[in-house]
Amino acid sequence: MPVARRQFLGLDIGTSSVKACVVDERGRTTARASEPLRLRAPHPGWAEQDPADWWKAAVRVVKRVTLGRRSGIEVVGLSGQMHSSVFLDRAGKVIRPALLWCDGRTTAQCRAIAKRVSPEQLRAWVSNPPLEGFTLPKILWLRDAEPAAFARLAKVLLPKDYIRLLLTGAMAAEPSDASGTLLFDVARSRWSSEMAEAMDLPAGLMPDIGGSSEVLGRVTAKVAALTGLAEGTPVVGGGADNACGAIGVGAVAPGAVVASWGTSGTVLSPTDKPVVDPGMRAHTFCHAVPGTWYVMGVMLSAGAAFAWHQRELARELAKKKDAATLLNREAAKISIGAEGLTFLPYLQGERTPHRDADARGAFVGLSLAHTRAHMTRAVLEAICFGLRDCQEIIAALGLPIPEILFTGGGAQAAFIRQMEADISGKAVVPVEQAEGPAFGAALLGAVGVGAFKDVGAATAATLRRGTATKPNTAAHAAYVEPYRKYQRAYAALRGMREGATA
Ligand code: XUL
Repeated sequence: MPVARRQFLGLDIGTSSVKACVVDERGRTTARASEPLRLRAPHPGWAEQDPADWWKAAVRVVKRVTLGRRSGIEVVGLSGQMHSSVFLDRAGKVIRPALLWCDGRTTAQCRAIAKRVSPEQLRAWVSNPPLEGFTLPKILWLRDAEPAAFARLAKVLLPKDYIRLLLTGAMAAEPSDASGTLLFDVARSRWSSEMAEAMDLPAGLMPDIGGSSEVLGRVTAKVAALTGLAEGTPVVGGGADNACGAIGVGAVAPGAVVASWGTSGTVLSPTDKPVVDPGMRAHTFCHAVPGTWYVMGVMLSAGAAFAWHQRELARELAKKKDAATLLNREAAKISIGAEGLTFLPYLQGERTPHRDADARGAFVGLSLAHTRAHMTRAVLEAICFGLRDCQEIIAALGLPIPEILFTGGGAQAAFIRQMEADISGKAVVPVEQAEGPAFGAALLGAVGVGAFKDVGAATAATLRRGTATKPNTAAHAAYVEPYRKYQRAYAALRGMREGATA
């Protein structure tokens, strides 16, 4: 007779899709589903999504994974894109589309924050600088640009917390996601009343904070009927997608560094106290593991740059399921450095290392000899160069990088793993469970219902490392000059934007 297994559901509200996966206590994924999402860019540098689309997709994926197993799922863990703003009125209705983490329209608001709050105060109150993608500048933008909408504003939620509201009726947040609002005291794990007061924001705009593995709500009867989850199923706090992605590869304690190649690209290093980059080029956030923080460098367009390339320059492949594999194969035929072609992936501005919302993408060094395959190679190399920029900042903080745990869409291809190993100079290690943040969220749920004593025990019991890809010494050396060129190209193009003459 088959032994009944415990089932934990992880639900991730991403940017390009909503994903669900059901995990058992041995780490096997017993069901998974995903639904694509569209991102609207009404102006260059803007990025919006309608929270209703997240909810529709969430219901669809949950329905698909619950099929035939009514009430078998014990708990739900939530994960989601960070920073994006869900503006709610008093009745809990969404006021306008959410401004996303990769939306760059709030430069004036960031300047206004920097004018009122000194770098020392920022460090002391919220451990981070004002950046366009963070939530506070988005709230100030609403106040400045759409005062009628701001007058109706009663609550601001993050994407996964909005989904929690619809699943359970409860308004709540947890430290890992709250960290990205610029309204959260990351060092003390509480909302920063100092920051809210300095920016003249009313008290009570943000929801109460609970724990990432704490049950913060239960599935309502209405949602149970809609999705197949049992009424009363506990929903734990969950975590930011980067925190949950890190848990999903076992990066729960200092010394484990994880690089993620999703829509964004990140390199994250857990710490046992808040560590702040003196140049504030990397972020300092709470992990979803109690008593743990992390430093993280963020590229705004990693997978997003590759998806753009595929959509705009490889249209004939668009309908093919294995389009990315075909493009990788094409790129593999081109030598390191793409014969002098450099790509800058700053299609939506950049956070790490430049803190420059106005940066834009470019191909530099095109010649008649170059083909689409060269461009593909240049795009892939640029994503790894961007991750290397993040890695360098973490290394400069004195945090060890013994190897790189690799997750996200890009990490699934052996060719990309080798490129990442060669460019980073580190062994690159995937996990066999390649579910990403949804897997980590499911584990937070499992801890919440007592299946494991803590997150470390959950990852130890469920995760299996994949085969490490070692860097090739000759290839690592061959990338030195293309990487320098990549860095110089940004500086040169920035000079052009500022009207400087060469
Ligand atoms: C992190 C960030 C992105 C999003 C992607 O600061 O903005 O990685 O979390 O969903």
